[in-house]
This record gives sequence, C-alpha cells and structure tokens, in this order.
Amino acid sequence: MTGSNQQPEKHPDFVFLTHEPMNGSPPMPFLVQEFITPVDLFFIRNHGTVPQINPDDFRLTIDGLVNKPLELTLDALRQFPHVEVMATLQCAGNRRQELIDIAPIPDEIAWGGAAISTAVWGGIRLRDVLIAAGFDRKARHIAFSGVDEVERKEDTFGFGGSIPVEKALMPETLLVYEMNGEPLTPVHGYPLRVVVPGYIGARSVKWLTRITAQAEPSSNYFQRIAYKLFSPNATPESVDWEHDGIMMGENSLNAVICYPGDNDTLAPGEISVMGYALGDGYNQIEKVEVSGDSGRSWSRATFLTDNQDLWAWRLWEARLQIDITTTHIIARATDTAGNSQPRDTQEIWNFKGYGNNAWHRLKVQVRI
Ligand code: MTE
Repeated sequence: MTGSNQQPEKHPDFVFLTHEPMNGSPPMPFLVQEFITPVDLFFIRNHGTVPQINPDDFRLTIDGLVNKPLELTLDALRQFPHVEVMATLQCAGNRRQELIDIAPIPDEIAWGGAAISTAVWGGIRLRDVLIAAGFDRKARHIAFSGVDEVERKEDTFGFGGSIPVEKALMPETLLVYEMNGEPLTPVHGYPLRVVVPGYIGARSVKWLTRITAQAEPSSNYFQRIAYKLFSPNATPESVDWEHDGIMMGENSLNAVICYPGDNDTLAPGEISVMGYALGDGYNQIEKVEVSGDSGRSWSRATFLTDNQDLWAWRLWEARLQIDITTTHIIARATDTAGNSQPRDTQEIWNFKGYGNNAWHRLKVQVRI
C-alpha cells in the first residue's frame, strides 16, 4: 500500500478546498441539477492521503467478539448477496462556514453547504458478514478501521469509527464496492468502504480493512475525540475530551438553498429558489418553505422528485416574490413527525463546527 494525493478525475468545476489532504465539493447550483450526484462531482472528505490498494493483496479482517474470525478477499466478499441502496452522504462539517461567520473555528475546513452528495451504493450487507462471523451478543458496537494514515500534531494514526450494533444489522448498512454502478474510485474508498445511510459521513469509513465487534465504541481518535458535538458555551480548553460531548451518529433534519447564491444581486419579481432537504433517517420530509420577509410569510416549495426514501435527500423548488425590501432568503423544512429546524445558528454554534441545521439564510441584494 502506498499513499498518494494525485488529483482524482473530477469535474472541471469541482472546488478543491485543500489538496493535502484532498477535500472538495461541487459548486452549490450543481447539487440540484441531478438527484444522483455524478461521481466526478461527489464531495470528497479526506483526513490523510489516499491509499493505493492492490486488489489482489486486499483482505478484510473481521474479528473481536465473533465466534469465527474471518479474513475475506474481494472475491469472497462478492459471494454474499449483492444489494444497492440509494443514500445521501453528508459530512458533519457541512455548513460550517455559517458558524465561522459567528465566531472563528480554527483548524477546520470552512465548508459551505455542498459537503453532501447522493449516490447509488452497490455492495453487500454488513449484517450478512457479521452473521457469517458469528458475532457475539456481547458486541454492542461495530468498529471500522481504514488503512489511510492521518497526521496530527506530529502523531500518525489510522482513520476509524464505530456504529451501534443495531445500526450495523440494519439492511441499509453496507460494505460498498460500487458507486453509481461503477467500481469505487480511489478517492472514495477503493476497493471497499462502509456506507452508513442516515449517519454523519465520518462513520462511512473508506479503504476499510478491519471490522471489529466490541463492547464499547471505537477508541479511534475520530470516534473518541473528533466528531463529537459539544454545547454552544463549551470551549476546547474547558471540555473533558474523553467524557464530554456526544459521539455524533444520526443526521438532523436540514434544508439548504443551492440557488440563488449567497450575496447574489437579483431583480425584483418572482424568482425560483432551489435546494435540497435531508431528513433524520426516521421520518420523511413533509414540507420545505422559503421566506423573503424574515419569516413573516412563507412559500411552500414543490419537490422535484417523488422519492420517499429515508436515506436520500429531496430536491425542491419554490417560487418567491421579492422586492427591494428583501435582504435575505430563508429556507426551513418540517418532517412528518412535526420536527423542524433550529431557527438561529447561534443556538447550535459549537467550537468544532458540526451539525449546522439551523434555518438557512442567504443574504441577497434586490435592485431594479
Ligand atoms: N474514511 C477514511 N478511511 N478516511 C477519511 O478521512 N473521511 C470520512 C468518511 N470516511 C474518511 C473516511 C468523512 S469525515 C466523510 S464526510 C466521508 O468519508 C466522505 O466520503 P467521500 O469522500 O466519499 O465523500
């Protein structure tokens, strides 16, 4: 295995935010052009270099609280029933830029709203492999280890994370070798990754080489320390990193405007506002509304697709009347359980900049 940061084949308009490690996302308006994001536009979130794995040497180890530890080749993995799941992947740091606008968040990537994409993932069910390994009932968490190496403050370690065993056994949780019908590309985890629909992207470990059934969550840095949600008044100096904060799992209801863009200048009249909405994985999205008058009145959006999948986003369009008094356009979603989003970004600000699902507010200028 060698590491590389060679430019992957991405769309010419793909926006690289960092090159080492490689991170980037499509321009916002591209997100709503296609329900299934083309692979060359799918966002990239890496913490280390992209490992180059020889498929002939590849082995997946399944160990820990199992009766029959396994070492499986790619061919052996393909003997399990092939399944496909359409699912949206969203980074926990999506929309961090809006939190940075309130107060600085050092050493974290300033993602706009495009650290999110949707694919049809092809592979096998994680539960089939866990059952083949005879996982023990004492196992409460399933931990994943990737082979990439991450550098932090002169320390080098691998990327990993875990999910509760209940989620690992759900039919949507996959070991994936295909994305939109093609083999995974190196940057998205070739030859094998986890995809945990409905969970923050960090749990969908790429370049997967080990699955461990265990009593406790993963002790990997990215589970134990990073990707934890702290309260708005917590500071890096005040928290007990080991014990405070919530290890992030499920996504929260979110709605984001992809078009027009922040700070756009618009002509008065009726405009089209387009975006995406993502549910919490348990409830369907009931409605998306937009407002051009600070929330005094709302226009209901129409969904551009009929999909009712819990794991995939919904794309939407609203018609909105704006005039020279309009300074912001706001979007919010409500799900079938009546859940809505927090109104203000301040309420959910946290020093790591995770989980921003406040009402999305765009600044606009309306000129005749
Ligand atoms: N897996 C490994 N091995 N290394 C990583 O850096 N990043 C995680 C996850 N899996 C990561 C990883 C994060 S934070 C996200 S959001 C998703 O991969 C992004 O997947 P993508 O690059 O295919 O979009």
